[in-house]
Amino acid sequence: MTTKTSSYETQELREFAEVLRGRRTIELFLQTPVPDALLKEAIEAATWAPNHHVTQPWHFYLLGDETVERCLDLCEDIVTTKKGEKAGKFKRQRWSEKPGWLVVTCRKSQDELLQREDYAACCAAVQTLMLYLWKAGVGCKWTTGDITRDAHFSEIVGFDEKEVIVVTLMWYGYPKLIPAQSRKNITEVLSKTV
Ligand SMILES: Cc1cc2nc3c(=O)[nH]c(=O)nc-3n(C[C@H](O)[C@H](O)[C@H](O)COP(=O)(O)O)c2cc1C
Repeated sequence: MTTKTSSYETQELREFAEVLRGRRTIELFLQTPVPDALLKEAIEAATWAPNHHVTQPWHFYLLGDETVERCLDLCEDIVTTKKGEKAGKFKRQRWSEKPGWLVVTCRKSQDELLQREDYAACCAAVQTLMLYLWKAGVGCKWTTGDITRDAHFSEIVGFDEKEVIVVTLMWYGYPKLIPAQSRKNITEVLSKTV
């Protein structure tokens, strides 16, 4: 049986779509380190994300061991205050198993529209970064938990919270487990107008 192939049905495009569909938020990572050079390539690629007026509103922070340790202290403090000592220790343990830490910030603006568009651009950059890494076998988890809005977090990572907002505290590493996910059928999210 022969199947009709139109010009857009190429192997290359199918493989590209597989990367887009296959990327999953990763919770459990192996401890194998991700090469710094790969991360830098992914970040460089991310800076090619669309950004209105070419404002390039993003900044990327790769966290070193001392910074991560301070983030773990802060995480434990925040959770202990909210939910008690046992919960604080538990969360610290879980977070200490995340092999790679990266923060992406977005420049703040007084102009509401510019702020919205800059944040959108940063999200496009984060997705580009995640897809680049995924193609290289590296998974990520995009988080925006309480710690990202804590004043101590900005001091630990080294940015001024008056100047920027946190887009993500991202964990990255080689996946131990790739979870399943589903999406609505395209018919539920697509309308075609006349
Ligand atoms: C802006 C944004 C913030 C997110 N923050 C969190 C978070 O704080 N905690 C979390 O578990 N997942 C967070 N996620 C990940 C989503 O929960 C995840 O993308 C969703 O469950 C779909 O899974 P998938 O990425 O495997 O398709 C965030 C995702 C986005 C886009």
